[in-house]
Amino acid sequence: MRYLDMDTAKKVSKIGLGTWQFGSREWGYGDSYAGAEAKAIVRRALELGITFFDTAEIYGFGRSERILGEALGEDLETIFLATKILPVMPVAPVVEQRGVASASRIGARTLDLYQVHQPNPAVRDGTIMRGMRALQRSGLVDEVGVSNYSLKRWIAGEQALGTRVLSNQVRYSLADRRPERDLVPYAHAHGRVIIAYSPLAQGLLCGRYDRSNRPTNSVRRNSALFLPENLERAAGLISALRQVAEAHSATPSQVALAWLIRDPVVAVIPGASTVAQLESNAAAADIDLTDEQYQELADESSRFSPVTGPAALPRIIGGRLRHR
Ligand SMILES: NC(=O)c1ccc[n+]([C@@H]2O[C@H](COP(=O)([O-])OP(=O)(O)OC[C@H]3O[C@@H](n4cnc5c(N)ncnc54)[C@H](OP(=O)(O)O)[C@@H]3O)[C@@H](O)[C@H]2O)c1
Repeated sequence: MRYLDMDTAKKVSKIGLGTWQFGSREWGYGDSYAGAEAKAIVRRALELGITFFDTAEIYGFGRSERILGEALGEDLETIFLATKILPVMPVAPVVEQRGVASASRIGARTLDLYQVHQPNPAVRDGTIMRGMRALQRSGLVDEVGVSNYSLKRWIAGEQALGTRVLSNQVRYSLADRRPERDLVPYAHAHGRVIIAYSPLAQGLLCGRYDRSNRPTNSVRRNSALFLPENLERAAGLISALRQVAEAHSATPSQVALAWLIRDPVVAVIPGASTVAQLESNAAAADIDLTDEQYQELADESSRFSPVTGPAALPRIIGGRLRHR
């Protein structure tokens, strides 16, 4: 495993584990996954040197936090635990109460990273950061992070908190490289961290899905990326991943992760539906891409231009109606 070179109290593995999948209906993995496989994934992650676990109060409405906490048990003391608050009522007392509630669901004494899940469009961050600051002073929260924040708002958040906001958790993969415009450069310049969520583009980059084999769960049925047209458009990128993977006796998904973590400020938090996927993802830390391979994948990813936004909406809705 590789670890971030940061002055955090506990070390943070560059490949972490995302746990939205734990106990949440939208991934559709069912009760046996939530009851057994999820725990086995966490235990195996620990064995493989993963120290970074990401959850959120909203995942499975608290189930993910509970499953993760139970699976970690005493190891909670040594790993880097990250959870998130959904800032629906972002006033300081509510933030404090929600932080305490998350810690209690997980069974943790400290939240190593407490993140604002997304910017509240109507309320600026002064109030939420007052709550975060109180949680830091009480010792319940160590580092504060944000998620889905623009650079401007990340900086404003730091000013409101009065100290660093360690990380910004954003969608970042070879299928979506927007964070490179300003967030990644900011993290480099100021010693901050980019946490890449959906680093496998929710499975698109694993090369398992195509027009005739589309995933059926609601997360991906409602995602523009998995429209038949976009699966076709991704063929070039997936084929480039396959070629590089062959040279490393690896898989496309491992190469997709290795590409991201080549950057020293980036950590990834792929989700996993099986222990085997987790093992494969952890092993991506051992892959060293050459400069040529890195560039080739960057070029291929720039050529990938999926149908997104308003243009994708009627197609997603049409697809849903056809499958009723
Ligand atoms: N902050 C936010 O707003 C936000 C948003 C989204 C996610 N997140 C966090 O980021 C984490 C990861 O993102 P994500 O779950 O959206 O997407 P992801 O990690 O890109 O994709 C996860 C899915 O890819 C497939 N997969 C994983 N490893 C694989 C492997 N080695 N080989 C083949 N398939 C593999 C699995 O699905 P199948 O086996 O079913 O194909 C798995 O459920 C989440 O768990 C969550 O913690 C945060």
